[in-house]
Amino acid sequence: MGAIAAGSTVAVTGAAGFIGGWVVRRLLDRGYRVRACVRDAEDLEKTGFLRAMPGYASGRLTLHSADLDEDGCFDEIFAGCQGVAHVSHVSTYTDAAYVRRVCDHIIASVDGSGSVNRVIVTSSIAAVMDEADVSELARRPVLYEDRFPDESNERRTPERKGYSMGKVVAERAFAEAAEASGGRWDAITCCPADNVGPILSAHQRRGAWQNGIANMLEGEYSQTAAYRPWMTVDVRDTADSQVGLLESVDVRNGERYIAWSAEKRDVEDVCASIDRLLPELGHDAPAVTDPFPERIQAREAEFRAIWAGTELRNDRMRRVARMEFRPLDESIRDCVESLITVGGVVPQLREGFALPA
Ligand SMILES: NC(=O)c1ccc[n+]([C@@H]2O[C@H](COP(=O)([O-])OP(=O)(O)OC[C@H]3O[C@@H](n4cnc5c(N)ncnc54)[C@H](OP(=O)(O)O)[C@@H]3O)[C@@H](O)[C@H]2O)c1
Repeated sequence: MGAIAAGSTVAVTGAAGFIGGWVVRRLLDRGYRVRACVRDAEDLEKTGFLRAMPGYASGRLTLHSADLDEDGCFDEIFAGCQGVAHVSHVSTYTDAAYVRRVCDHIIASVDGSGSVNRVIVTSSIAAVMDEADVSELARRPVLYEDRFPDESNERRTPERKGYSMGKVVAERAFAEAAEASGGRWDAITCCPADNVGPILSAHQRRGAWQNGIANMLEGEYSQTAAYRPWMTVDVRDTADSQVGLLESVDVRNGERYIAWSAEKRDVEDVCASIDRLLPELGHDAPAVTDPFPERIQAREAEFRAIWAGTELRNDRMRRVARMEFRPLDESIRDCVESLITVGGVVPQLREGFALPA
């Protein structure tokens, strides 16, 4: 079990996605061979940017169709790989039995490969801090790897908290299976925060946070749930975190590592940052829309104080992946520019400003 060797082959699930695409790119940059797993390799709208990567022309990057709702879809793809970066979403998070079934067949492919040494399980900071009762964050405000949401809360149900529950199910399923493999492979969890940064393909605009910035550019955006500030990571740093975890000799099966810059910024300030960082653009910043019912709005000050009291820690990731995280300003700037140039977003501009012809 353990770290992957230089130049070895790594499979990336969810490779057409925002994070997966950057994991592919960073692995290629560092000299690995990459098997990019996408739902449909013939879907040029989603795979065109992968085909345009230089490694595709030489054959160092190959594309593979795999719908993870089909058992065994990774059997052939994983055979010969030393590493797996499991980045993909699943089709639903509200059905724990389904989430477990998907984990089990991916694990069977890892076990059957005879070659995989390490799997990176992409979880989320939701699996660290998505509390059914926000006041639990006031009680345990340090957000670090050993923290889980209060699992004893009766309101922590699949309907309300399916995403964070599904992520915890997956983290544990992989760690237990790796343990049962007798040390043939290990599973390390990466918990990314709110990913901001450059998109690589127009279809990637649709993700959560980059879509939020696209909405700001287009003139309408919403308040974040429970007035939570954005707690961000640059998507390139999430990718570097995953590569760093694949390479590390200092990590152990079942450990989890959070990928975030440890910055927090309220959504209104994220929007205002666009004009501050790119004054030449002339962004006409819209006002935020608050869609919450009155009973939530009445608690705005309380919620904001709880979030302000949280402490975000990234010491473990910086140590094992030997990296520093980019400041959010850099992520916002590069996200905006990519949304306009790659994503075709047309920003709302103040009078006297226009995009170059
Ligand atoms: N973005 C964030 O801020 C963030 C934060 C924390 C954690 N994460 C985690 O990071 C991972 C990647 O997120 P992302 O933002 O990169 O999402 P994304 O852009 O939506 O990419 C996810 C990918 O998963 C693939 N996928 C979904 N269902 C599939 C299935 N049944 N079979 C095969 N592929 C399937 C999608 O393929 P199609 O394109 O074909 O649908 C998509 O390319 C997820 O596990 C997410 O929970 C993301």
